[in-house]
Amino acid sequence: MSLKLRITIDGSEVTASTGSTILEAADAAGIYIPRLCSHKELCAYGACRICTVLVNGRPQAACTTPAVDGMVVESDVESLHNHRRSLIEMLFSEGNHYCMFCERSGSCELQALGYRFGMIVPRHTYQFPDRDVDASHPDVMIDRNRCVLCARCVRASKQVDGTHAFQFVGRGKNRRIGVNAAAGLAGTRLKVEDKAAAICPVGAIIKKRTAFTEPVGRRLYDKKPIGSDIEAGASA
Ligand code: FES
Repeated sequence: MSLKLRITIDGSEVTASTGSTILEAADAAGIYIPRLCSHKELCAYGACRICTVLVNGRPQAACTTPAVDGMVVESDVESLHNHRRSLIEMLFSEGNHYCMFCERSGSCELQALGYRFGMIVPRHTYQFPDRDVDASHPDVMIDRNRCVLCARCVRASKQVDGTHAFQFVGRGKNRRIGVNAAAGLAGTRLKVEDKAAAICPVGAIIKKRTAFTEPVGRRLYDKKPIGSDIEAGASA
């Protein structure tokens, strides 16, 4: 049985198991800390920084920082909301995100974060990068215009599926999702049932012939904002 420790999150004392991260402790207590790259079935990666909280006054990524007894965590503060909103705006302006045409609209985590944090229009300059689409696979496609470099597909193909189908290539602003086959996605061992084909938080990796099946009004985030399940006490 794991030992318990106590931490304070936004003034509430919560109990956490030793070995849990701040994000896991908050989830278990029904406190939503926003996140994008984190996924409960994958190892923490710490890429997007949307989960940044103040730990004893210092900024830390909640998804990678272990909970320590007596820790004081702040998440629901205006400076962090601004930080998160700015990161979300940056992601929107760095890629080519046209929500009105996107198959993931209504169930996209980036779009849902934009709504939750009241994003009106990005303050950053749109980059309009020239990125390609790989539709070579019979069942799955990659639209790199929408990729936010969260590495969920990279981690899932390695840690869950064992195919290593995805990896990053390039550096800096040229960094993008690559595949481990010269022939493109069709040359990999990726199958439509794989975790990597279903774990993208945006519309960058989508299954073919599944678009727009949920009508507007019944999509995942149409009725409740992202994070509502955690705040309702459900495990994330
Ligand atoms: Fe923690 Fe992305 S969710 S860094």
